[in-house]
Amino acid sequence: MKNKPFVYVENLSLRFDHTNEIETLSNISFAMQEGESLLLLGPSGSGKSTLTFCLNGLYPRELDGEMTGDIVIAGKRTNDYQPGELSQFVGVVFQDPETQFCMLTVEDEIAFGLENMCTPYEKMSAKIDEVLALVGLSKYKTATIARLSGGQKQKLALACILALEPKLLILDEPTANLDPVSAKEVMKTIKKLKEKVNCSLIIIEHQLDGWTDVAERCILLNQKGNIFFDGSLRDAIAHEYPKLIEEGIWLPKVAQYVLHHMEHVPATVPLTLAEFATQVNCFGKIEWKKPTSMQQNVTVPFIKLENVSWTVNRQRILSRISFTLYKDEFVAIVGANGSGENLTFTYHCGDSKAN
Ligand SMILES: Nc1ncnc2c1ncn2[C@@H]1O[C@H](COP(=O)(O)OP(=O)(O)OP(=O)(O)O)[C@@H](O)[C@H]1O
Ligand SMILES: [Mg+2]
Repeated sequence: MKNKPFVYVENLSLRFDHTNEIETLSNISFAMQEGESLLLLGPSGSGKSTLTFCLNGLYPRELDGEMTGDIVIAGKRTNDYQPGELSQFVGVVFQDPETQFCMLTVEDEIAFGLENMCTPYEKMSAKIDEVLALVGLSKYKTATIARLSGGQKQKLALACILALEPKLLILDEPTANLDPVSAKEVMKTIKKLKEKVNCSLIIIEHQLDGWTDVAERCILLNQKGNIFFDGSLRDAIAHEYPKLIEEGIWLPKVAQYVLHHMEHVPATVPLTLAEFATQVNCFGKIEWKKPTSMQQNVTVPFIKLENVSWTVNRQRILSRISFTLYKDEFVAIVGANGSGENLTFTYHCGDSKAN
């Protein structure tokens, strides 16, 4: 027999404006076992963050909105918890961690949450050290928060919530504001956490690359705030692909590539590059679709930069940039957060190359 679910949501609906018929969340039902992880996916505005606020008890108590249905966490309805009591069970890390900070230093920020939970003073220091080690920020214990990078701030926000030992951890787009390097670091930290901390995990993300091995299960919301799929991500891609595209849900890049470019889609669509690499031998002779007309007109230079540098108030912003842009070409310029004076890039197109 299955254990009683740790999270149980039944017929949850929410409207912000009671004079308006349109619901932001509509008839949401799902359950989660203790320790289970899932990805909550849906287009912008489908109600993912709103659902988070329902789960941590902000609706209907603290925020305006008309909520119906039931949410039971750890055997008790969220409405029946005392204010603040639910934060022992549900911890949320928001997309922009800056909005969560109210102290100056890293250790004070973690201590703030512990003080609110009336943690005895003698236990605080050990707890702060423990969570800083968990997220890999031990050497920043006394650092000023303003001096941390975006990825470090995200890890600090995670540490603050982990200090409260939630049974359900919700990460609302934890890598949305990060460059790829910082995003990878935060993902690595979260994957390590999963091995060390036994809590349920809900990850809300638009960008699925890197997350598919964290959770098998996904819940998909549509534009109307309904759940239209609850099951394995692989099944969602296999059976609901047109619907996923219609609803604007991003797929892992490898899956997108295979689905768009392979003439015959394999029975198991790869979700990661590693999976693709192991499958590619089994595909035999791959028939790729013909490329579209882009990249054809790469012989007429349209913009050419050679050793362009830019300095403001003695600060070097751009450093020796050289590249050529060709007529009708689409180019993405990519760089790490705050790459500033170190911004140099490699650019390949046809036989042109610049550093
Ligand atoms: N306090 C509010 N009052 C009125 N409408 C709101 C409020 N908060 C959110 N909404 C609306 O509810 C809908 C769902 O918003 P929500 O932030 O939950 O979406 P989301 O799925 O998290 O989107 P994103 O991926 O962009 O973060 C949106 O249409 C939004 O404009
Ligand atoms: Mg959101």
